[in-house]
Amino acid sequence: MGKDVIIACDFDSAQKVFAFLDKFEGKRKPFVKIGMELYYAEGPEIVREIKKRGHKIFLDLKLHDIPNTVKKSMAVLSRLDVDMTNLHAAGTKRMMEAAIEGLTRPDGTRPMLIAVTQLTSTDQESMENDLLIKEPIAEVVMHYASCAKEAGLDGVVCSPLEAGKVHDRCGESFVTVTPGVRFADGDIGDQKRVMTPAEAKRIGSDYIVVGRPITAAEDPVAAYERCIEEFCD
Ligand code: C5P
Repeated sequence: MGKDVIIACDFDSAQKVFAFLDKFEGKRKPFVKIGMELYYAEGPEIVREIKKRGHKIFLDLKLHDIPNTVKKSMAVLSRLDVDMTNLHAAGTKRMMEAAIEGLTRPDGTRPMLIAVTQLTSTDQESMENDLLIKEPIAEVVMHYASCAKEAGLDGVVCSPLEAGKVHDRCGESFVTVTPGVRFADGDIGDQKRVMTPAEAKRIGSDYIVVGRPITAAEDPVAAYERCIEEFCD
């Protein structure tokens, strides 16, 4: 599994994202994450445009619906030629299996599919009170990861702190995609549990998702290259 740094392009317009990506002209082309904000602002055309510029794309839309709807929606996303996309494991194994079916193209290829387990914004208290799930949250995360693996998914989005345990439970080739990354000398912002790229590498993350430490840096290209150096090299 090749390790890579994925830049979270959390911008609200095509103009802003292109102004950002233009800075990488003639350099290594980053793997980019397109989330709901940019996708809902600009629609599928933004995916095609960024793909045309030669970037790999993680389309982070976190699908969660009945299996038939997810299957059909994934079939549409597979035609957008993204490299990675995701869904909520809470949609059940049947929903995840339907997603794989929908995502698989007629030639048998498909983008990587990863699952969100419990959002990092959900804590033990809200899980117990709002979702009526009484098990320890770490167990819930591991159980959801196992379900994702059994359904045939390629991996999960998780905290870098959970990446090692996910690999222990689901195998080394089961991919961990981890946000919450900060430089040792940087601002942590609203992220609570953070790790440096070097620590994330040590603990076994396969992909780190980095937003503001790159997008809000004075020199985004240098910040990206620092991530690559710490995480990939
Ligand atoms: O700017 P920052 O590096 O905090 O961006 C992290 C990215 O990862 C954002 O797009 C955020 O929505 C996403 N993310 C996260 N925590 C999760 C899942 C996704 O920070 N548990």
